[in-house]
Formats: sequence, structure tokens, C-alpha cells
Amino acid sequence: MDRIRIIGGQPLKGTIPISGAKNAALPLMIASLLTEDRLTLKNVPNLADVNLLARILRNHGVDLAVDGKRAGGTPHLGETFHLTARDISDTTAPYELVSRMRASFWVLGPLVARMGEAKVSLPGGCAIGTRPVDLHLSALRALGAEIEIDAGYVIARAPKGLVGGHITFPKVSVGATHNALLAAALAKGETLIENAAREPEVGDVAACLVKMGVVIEGIGTSTLRVQGKSRLEGTVHTVLPDRIETGTFAFAVAATGGDVVLEGTRRELLKTALETLSETGASVTDTETGVRIQRNGNGLEPIDVETQPFPGFPTDLQAQLMALMTRAHGTSVIRETIFENRFMHVQELARLGADIKLHGDTATIKGVRSLRGAPVMATDLRASVSLVIAGLMAEGETIINRVYHLDRGFERLEEKLSRCGAQIERLTAG
Ligand code: UD1
Repeated sequence: MDRIRIIGGQPLKGTIPISGAKNAALPLMIASLLTEDRLTLKNVPNLADVNLLARILRNHGVDLAVDGKRAGGTPHLGETFHLTARDISDTTAPYELVSRMRASFWVLGPLVARMGEAKVSLPGGCAIGTRPVDLHLSALRALGAEIEIDAGYVIARAPKGLVGGHITFPKVSVGATHNALLAAALAKGETLIENAAREPEVGDVAACLVKMGVVIEGIGTSTLRVQGKSRLEGTVHTVLPDRIETGTFAFAVAATGGDVVLEGTRRELLKTALETLSETGASVTDTETGVRIQRNGNGLEPIDVETQPFPGFPTDLQAQLMALMTRAHGTSVIRETIFENRFMHVQELARLGADIKLHGDTATIKGVRSLRGAPVMATDLRASVSLVIAGLMAEGETIINRVYHLDRGFERLEEKLSRCGAQIERLTAG
């Protein structure tokens, strides 16, 4: 298994290009199931999760070509995907594939909307909590789907097609909003979705659906009004920049005391996270090409933050913020309100000398004078990148094991950081 080796202590200086957002690319790829025509997606990041979803979609009969080539193992950066679901040959998404990536469950809505039936494995547990699918199922029921659960599979049926309905989510869910929106796009008549997730990736999917012929009001708000169409057209859409990658690098720059322009990204995509970063004492400014992050020799101020659905502070940056706060001048408090078990990075950060106490959903982080490099273990995608940030701050050598988690969501991480002066390299197994 690959590992990452970091020698900490170098400030980051230069520019880092920000990739297309994983969390938008995945549902956009799934949107290809809604039309017989070709959906072209630009700026698709080269990530393990994207490649896995490509496999799942091919299994349903989607034809995928990458910039004229067939999709394959060749590395590509910000590639263009051409997806055509002319015939859906299989409406089953098997356990072997769905269990490896939760977002693949989102094929359920579009498949039942287009084909009148779908059988998708329950995603199962994952490292950061139980993550149920009740909100996805109630949304599809509101559009007329009959749902049965049998032997670990969700079977959804709507032989006469879905019909528009009224969905009120009791809790904000990004995935359930995607599933509802994608299904409503082909449902007959109007669907009202209340308490929809407002994450920019939901807006990006809605914008693509509009180009495919769906009428959607309220994009960017928590109330979406969708006029479904019986047939959608193909279109060309560019995936928006990855706000979690942006925030991760912004925190890394603040952590090392550097000066970096994050190219191709936009500040409004992560308003609260960058406001929080400013509160710690780092400077955040807009440039013509992106966002510039600087921190001079001053120390970091502690913060008090809780994770919230967008536009609040994202749970996907919680671990990275915690890594940064291990060196603040004072005590920070971070409360995780979205996932119940998203603190696995705490004990790994402690191995580097961090002083963190956990009480239920709240972590109290007492800033320490220095961190000391050590071997650590990546446990999930965002936790592992928090260890990279800590390693960049630590004195001496940090070895991060199980880096396949990083490859799920960060494109060319070592290359992007080492171009800015970080001493980081991948130790390839075997
Ligand atoms: C998406 C993101 C993930 C991010 C998360 C929250 C993608 C591919 N993944 O995950 O990176 O951390 O949003 O911003 O975009 N819940 C239920 N019932 C359901 C569905 C969800 O109770 O049917 C709960 C979850 O357990 C969790 C909360 O709702 O506590 C939010 O989860 P959700 O927004 O659905 O996360 P994902 O869409 O899986």
C-alpha cells in the first residue's frame, strides 16, 4: 500500500490549481442516466471515486468516452467526459460496487424515473457514521415510487413513471436532495422540494438539468420548484471548482505560514470556511485568477466553530481546521453536528503531539508550541488530508499510511503541494 512521507516546516509559496469538484462531478455523471443524448462534462477530476462511478454507470449501459479516447487508466487532469445512456441495459446497482462508494446510491432516483424500476444495494455503514437512506426513500415515495427492501437491496418501482409531488425534508441531506432533484427532472408535472440542501454542488447539478430542458426555480435556495419533462436533452456542462480542495489548501497555507494563490476557484463557494480562516489571522483576498491566502509570522488565533449545512462551516473541512488549530495560541472548540463519528483524526493528531479532548460531539483543542512528526494512519478521506496538514506543520518526518483514502478525493495532492515548496513524496508499495 502506498504511503506519503512529509518533512514538515516549509512554508508554501506559489500557485495551486484547484480541480473540478468531486461532489459535483459524481451527481452530474449520474445525471447522464436521464437522457438518451450525450452529456458532456468538462473539468472532471481524476479521482478514484470518479473512476469507480464510471464503472458503475458502464454497468448500467452508459457509454463513456474521455476526450475522444476510451476511458482507461491513463492519468488525466480536468478531463472531458462524454456520457451517453442511449440504452440502459441493467437497472441493478450491485452491492460489490455500491458498498465502495455511498454516492453511487444516487443512481436510484434517475433509474426509476427513466426505466420505471431500479434495484440498488443499500450502501451500508461507513467509517464516519451510520448514514441512513430514509430521506432518499421518502422523497422517491412522494413522487409515486413503490419501495421495497429485500436482501440488502432497495427495489423501487413506478411502472407508469414518476409523478411530481411535495417533498419536505425533515433534515438537510445533500444526497437525498440530489436523488430527489434527479428523479423530479423526469417526473410528470411539478415537484416542490422543501428544506433542500443549498450546497453549491446541488446548484451545479440543477444548472445542468436546466440546460437539459428541466425548468427549476429557486436554485441556490432551500426551496426548489421543478417542472419535470418526459424527455431530456444532452448538453455540455463544466464542473464547478472543488470548494473542499480549496479550503484544504487554504488551511495548509495558513498552517505553514505561506503565500499561495489558489487558481480557478471562487471565494463565495466557501464563504464561512474562509471567514473562519480570516478569524484565525490568515489573510484571504480575491485575485484575478482565484483566491490568495497569506499568513505572516504571527500566531494563529483560536476559534469556536460548529459544522452546519451550507452556507455554514462544512463538515468536510472540520478535520483540516482541527489540524490547523493544534498550533493556535489558545484553546479552540469545534462541534461536529452533521456526522456522529467524524473524529477519527483526533487520535492520529495526538500521535503528532496535539492536545485534543473529546466530549460527545465537541472537540476542545489546546494549541501546542510544536508538533513532532510520527507515523500515522489515514482513516477516511477528509481525516487523511488533515494529517497531511499536520505533517506539514510538524518538525521532522511524518509517514501517512493507507493513503488510498486521499486518492478518492484529492487529485495529485503531493504534486500540487511540492510545487509550492512542501517536502512531500509518495512511497509507492512494491
Ligand atoms: C455529502 C457529501 C459529503 C459531505 C456530506 C455533508 C458527496 C458525494 N458527499 O454526503 O462529502 O460530508 O454531504 O455535507 O457529495 N441522513 C439521514 N438520512 C438520509 C440521508 C442522510 O439521516 O436518508 C443524515 C446523515 O446521516 C447525516 C446528514 O443526514 O447525518 C447529512 O448527510 P448527507 O448530506 O446526506 O451526506 P451525503 O449526501 O452522504
